Amino acid sequence: MQTDVWSDVHEVPHVRLGQSADLVVVAPATADLLARAAIGRSDDLLTATLLTARCPVLYAPAMHTEMWEHPATQANIETLRGRGAVVLDPAVGRLTGADSGPGRLPEPAEIFAVARTLLDRGALPLDLAGRHVLVTAGGTREPLDPVRFLGNRSSGRQGYALARAAIARGAEVTVVAANVALPDPAGAKVIRVGTAGEMRDAVRAAAISADAVIMVAAVADFRPATASQTKIKKTGADPEPIALVRNPDILAELAHDRPRPGQVVVGFAAETDDVLANGRAKLAAKGADLLVVNEVGDGRGFGTTDNAATLLGADGSVVDVPMGSKDRLADAIWDAVVARLPR
Ligand code: PMT
Repeated sequence: MQTDVWSDVHEVPHVRLGQSADLVVVAPATADLLARAAIGRSDDLLTATLLTARCPVLYAPAMHTEMWEHPATQANIETLRGRGAVVLDPAVGRLTGADSGPGRLPEPAEIFAVARTLLDRGALPLDLAGRHVLVTAGGTREPLDPVRFLGNRSSGRQGYALARAAIARGAEVTVVAANVALPDPAGAKVIRVGTAGEMRDAVRAAAISADAVIMVAAVADFRPATASQTKIKKTGADPEPIALVRNPDILAELAHDRPRPGQVVVGFAAETDDVLANGRAKLAAKGADLLVVNEVGDGRGFGTTDNAATLLGADGSVVDVPMGSKDRLADAIWDAVVARLPR
């Protein structure tokens, strides 16, 4: 461990550490450190290392909300991002002392996940830098009464893998998460929703500024026509059938409206049979630029760590992604999105 410029001087640590690093992670990155890095100070071991590093650099800021939001800090972050560093947005939550808000250090495991992705990417460019992307994750729940709902088995893993991969490629990431119990991806803005209706409102609001939208969430096609205000009681009589009404198709609406010019809209298709044929029909029906078709059920897709898919492009392209981690599939999807983004 090295802590200052003057230990083991013969090894020239203030230069050697940065020169030989594959990745530099600064966590927590204070407002002061970000300012000193932005103007290129080198009066201690850390800033000297940052100045000599030619590898990816990841900053995980943590500070009080006022400091984070101050135009000086935001300008420093812009400078660092402009030079190719990945600067995570801090998490929102309890800070040191009584206050809470944006400024909290993301969960260490999530910072580590971004660091690992950056290491895997090596010298590849941050090809989503300057882009805002929106990802939906999880599964909606449509209430029947205060204690019961119609839902599905989505864990949010695939959506969160896409969020993490986009952060490691330099994007500003918004996640609309329905009933996900995983830790927030470090650096993403997470908006929590419950039902398909809430997801639609959140997606429409965030999509206005999004360069790309990926609808991974499993959204209920139908909801109970009425939700009882009180718990439905078990009586002696046979239960009433549950009447359902159709939910809006968020993906189809978005693909039709395109709230931002040049926006790339990506859907998923979860299929149990005639996978590719159903996927092709869904691509045409939804009007998306790209559809990620994955086979689900029988231990596949929902809740797993691995996934396989075929990426169908509206331009007729077909890319098979073999079984591997959801992180790997996420990277393949972003490759396809980046290729479709206007320059
Ligand atoms: O979360 P995990 O456990 O990691 O599981 C990942 C996954 C299996 C959920 C994911 O890989 C996946 O397949 N997501 C799509 C689930 C789904 O709802 O598929 P669908 O074929 O029913 O819907 C097609 C597309 O339309 C999807 O992009 C969906 O978000 C969208 N949709 C559906 C209904 C609706 N009312 N509005 C929509 O926007």
